[in-house]
Parts: sequence; structure tokens; C-alpha cells
Amino acid sequence: MICLCKYFIKGMKDLKKLITEVIPEVTEYRKWLHRHPEPSHHEKAASEYIAEALVNIGLEPVKSASGYGISACIDGRKPSGERQRCIALRADFDALELTEKTGCDFASEKPGLMHACGHDVHAAMLLGEAKVLNELRDEFSGTVKLIFQPAEEDSLNSGAKEMIEAGVLEDPKVDAVLGQHVFPDVPVGKIWLDKHSASAASDRFRIEVRGKASHAGMAPERGIDAIVIAGQIIGAIQTVVSRRLGADEKAVISIGIIKGGERYNIIADRVIMEGTCRTVSDSTRSKAERLLREITAGIAAGSGGSAEVEYLRGLPSSLNDAELYELVSSEAAAALGKENVLDPGKTNMGGEDFAYYSRSVPSCFYFLGCSKDIDNSPPLHSSSFLPDEECMPYGIEIMVRSALRFLND
Ligand code: NI
Repeated sequence: MICLCKYFIKGMKDLKKLITEVIPEVTEYRKWLHRHPEPSHHEKAASEYIAEALVNIGLEPVKSASGYGISACIDGRKPSGERQRCIALRADFDALELTEKTGCDFASEKPGLMHACGHDVHAAMLLGEAKVLNELRDEFSGTVKLIFQPAEEDSLNSGAKEMIEAGVLEDPKVDAVLGQHVFPDVPVGKIWLDKHSASAASDRFRIEVRGKASHAGMAPERGIDAIVIAGQIIGAIQTVVSRRLGADEKAVISIGIIKGGERYNIIADRVIMEGTCRTVSDSTRSKAERLLREITAGIAAGSGGSAEVEYLRGLPSSLNDAELYELVSSEAAAALGKENVLDPGKTNMGGEDFAYYSRSVPSCFYFLGCSKDIDNSPPLHSSSFLPDEECMPYGIEIMVRSALRFLND
């Protein structure tokens, strides 16, 4: 059993008490944010609301040069030796284009927009962490940087990437970043923490198959059937994961769109297919892209047609730093009980723009249980998704403990 008093002078009981005291305010933040959802790159009101809350806490919010991002620093007052480190805690706060069907009494006041991914809870928890850490300034040295990040849902114009490019990890230089995401497959009071990765690289591809039109009944041999070529390509793409990549190389390739043909009795001269490619390691990512291109070109050429692959690289994968993993894992065990810190047992193949932090500085990201009944809990991005707010004290405690431990270690 690790002795936590080394890292936390006031003791665990006092921390829980401090968190209990801020929960009514955190709940109000959450409800306000939930009622006022804004989509990626349009989070003006939420950004102003967060900045005002930070001022009320006694902090100085700094607007990002890009978009609606906000950051704020809390400097510890504990005398320290030579080492003054900085840890960033990040929360996103954009919403989705979806009409809410939760029926809750703080439902979205904006038709067609909703916090369906729990980012309202993330931002509210970070404000709670700000308040608690500000009270505990005498207990740590170094700096906690709070990052309120917009536009997580726009993978091609990611808010994380924009804030990093605008310098959020500098001045003071950030040594580590932590992030969390509510997750309905995990019960309240538990987390999923993967030792190696937290999210997958999320790429998008578009294949255009070109053939030659002809009469489909009278003279199919005079055409080049783009639909038949597309069918072969679809079949062959399945072998990338099943036969060309190793069993340890995590990958998913799915085609979600296929469009082609003009009339039932005409050989189609053009088919468009679009899909997603998810991978974890950078080498598997490059290999999957190369194989997609090779297979597509080879099949099209062998059938007398041609094909063009447009491969758009989206988010990279989020990789958890080994030391931070150990730190968060032990602090989460202290907060929740060791039996409640779970290995997911499967790799998350979803995308998350926290990945950009993890590619810049050592990082750790985990999933916070937010369901009372995991079997009947709507998934993320569902119009009925409503994380249970009882998860919030747990999320706050894990983040506060981990930040204190990192800065006092
Ligand atoms: Ni999300």
C-alpha cells in the first residue's frame, strides 16, 4: 500500500470533504453548459462562461490565440528544491448537432444541438478541480495549467491541435498532460485505464473506381464494370486485417458509403466508396494505408479499369506514457479502491484529439464510469446519452490527486 500522506499533507479525508463542498457549484456549471450546447468552433458563450467562472474562483483565464480555448494557471506556494514542474489538466467543451431526447430538466435549450458526448461534464469537473487546487496552493510546488479546449469533435480541424500550435503547452512549459472522458460502458465509481493507448488513429479514405459504360444486357463485354471491380476491392480489403497484418497489429477498416450506377440495365462506369481506417501503432497505420492503395490499384488494373485512392490522415492515436500510467493508476486506486481501476481488456478504436497532447508531451487519458445501469445506458453520441453526475466527484478526485502527486514527487 502506497503512503499517500507523502503527497498530500491534508490527508484523503480533507480532500474528499473539499470536493464535496464544490460539488453543488460543479453541478450548476454542468447544468448551465448542458442547457447551452455549441458545436465545434462556435463555443463562444461556453468559453465566456468558463472564463467568468475561473475569475470567480480567483484565477486569470487566458484566451487561446486560436478559437475559443481558455487556459489558466494555478501556481503552488509550497517551497520546493530545484524542480518546478507543470502539469496540464485538459477538458473539452464542444457539443454535437443532435436533438436531445433525454427528457432531463436541464435539457438543451437549442434545438438540434446537444451535449451528447459528456463534454459538459468534463468542463464542469475541470472547474471543480480548479477550485479545489486553488484552495490547496500551499500543498504543492510548481504549476497546474487548466486547458479548456473547444472543437474536439472536429477531427480534421482539431481544437487540441490548434491550441498546441497557439502555444498552450509553453510558458510555462508543460511537462505532462492528463485527460478523462465519461464512458457509459463503465459503472459510476470505476474507471477504464489502458496501459498503452487510449484512442486509435482515425483516418478516412475515398476510393473512386473508373470503368466503362455499356449496355448491361446486350453487350456487357464492351464495357468495364465498375461495380464488379468495387465488389472485388471490398472483398480484398477485408484481407488487410485478416491476412496482411499480424494478430498483434490492431486495426479496423470499414467501408460506410458505396455509390455507383445510373440505371439497372447500364454497366456502371463509376463507383465511389468511402470508409474509415483505425489503427494504434504508427507503423501499422502506414502499412494499412499502403496496402489499401496497392490492393485497390492492383484489382482495378487487373480488371481493365482504374481506381484512385484519396487517403486523409485524421487524428493520431493517443499513447499513454508508462510512468504517468503508473501514477494515475495508483492515485485512482487510492481514490476509488484498487478493484475499481480496470483494464478495459480491449483497445479503444475510437478517435480522440487528446492524441495531439500525447504526441507532444508525456500524457495519460482514461475513461470515467458514468452509468448506474451499464446494460441499459445509451452510448456516446446518442440523443439519449446522459452521464450520471455522481461520477463527477470521482473524476475530480483522480485528477487532483494525480496533479498533486506529479508536482510533489
Ligand atoms: Ni467526446
